[in-house]
Amino acid sequence: MKPSQLAKPFVLSHPTYEPGRPIDDVARDLGLDPAGIIKLASNENPFGPSPKAAEAARRAIGEGQLYPDGGCYLLRQGLARAHGLSPGQFVIGNGSNEVIELLGHVFLGPGDEVVMGKPEFVVYRLVPPLFGAVPVEVPLADFRNDLGALARALSPRTKMVVVSSPNNPTGSANTETELLGFIRSLPGGVICVVDEAYIDFEERPHDIRPLIREGRNVIGLRTFSKIYGLASLRIGYGYASAEMASLLDRVRQPFNVNAIAQAAALAALGDTAFTGMCASENRRGLARLEAGFSGLGLKYVPSQANFILVRVGDGARVFDALQRRGVIVRPLKTYELPEWIRVTVGTAVQNERLLAELETVLR
Ligand SMILES: Cc1ncc(COP(=O)(O)O)c(C=O)c1O
Repeated sequence: MKPSQLAKPFVLSHPTYEPGRPIDDVARDLGLDPAGIIKLASNENPFGPSPKAAEAARRAIGEGQLYPDGGCYLLRQGLARAHGLSPGQFVIGNGSNEVIELLGHVFLGPGDEVVMGKPEFVVYRLVPPLFGAVPVEVPLADFRNDLGALARALSPRTKMVVVSSPNNPTGSANTETELLGFIRSLPGGVICVVDEAYIDFEERPHDIRPLIREGRNVIGLRTFSKIYGLASLRIGYGYASAEMASLLDRVRQPFNVNAIAQAAALAALGDTAFTGMCASENRRGLARLEAGFSGLGLKYVPSQANFILVRVGDGARVFDALQRRGVIVRPLKTYELPEWIRVTVGTAVQNERLLAELETVLR
């Protein structure tokens, strides 16, 4: 028998996650000099990691022969201080992506439904089928999560509801009043996952900690991949009640988060001057891109994140043409937004380059 005949049936039609294309990959493919390529495709930090995080990572590799602390003791202490919660309220993952999968391991089974926006970060659609559960997608309204419609989509089979705020790929956020009201209205048997990957870029971020204190079944997910500039090290976390965090902690691999990532994340957490600079540069960059898009007569979705959606007509063609000119952006066919591309906010120089190349390819 062939492996595909032995595989679980759902795997045969399960899509593979398509990441933003790496610079070297595009360079090899198109015969370009990697040094001349900019990647504005995966919402990474154009300023890199904090120098303090990079130094901590270099120090940690010196003890690379040792297994990491699987319990992430020091990082949990740091997170507890930063959030005013207790260390036992955190679960640390190999990227927040892993925490999404841990939620599936603990809570999802055959026939369970996971309600989410459409579009929503694609991993939320990919994880439920691993456990026989079913994603239920509810269209956004005006590019924002439609919390009323999400509430109406709940059924007796709903186990989980997901709200990313800001949403990926649209960059728009729900207000704290809306979000907290929605979560308080959920039935006790529904877990709410609030994905906060981009919350550090918001001017008026929401705060779900009162809901955790009230004993609601809610978990916030954060990542070190965005404002902390540590995407390559793969580290993120969830925070929730101590009971929920300890359930998630039971199903992780013994050493799921490496020591270099733990050390870098802890140092990054402490460098608030760096993250403050990144947030204000991001706001400046967003304003510049918005003005540039307006100047080109292009519609965009006002963003509270470190990326922005812009309508370019034929998104696949513009993606391809930009890539040939050394600018990698994200086409949105998989998100069923074929007329749009998603652009990560870059450095001032990168933003000017994107706008100039975009003008050329649209001409
Ligand atoms: C909304 C959202 N959640 C989670 C993630 C994953 O982050 P991590 O790199 O921590 O796995 C992303 C990455 O792009 C994202 O956009």
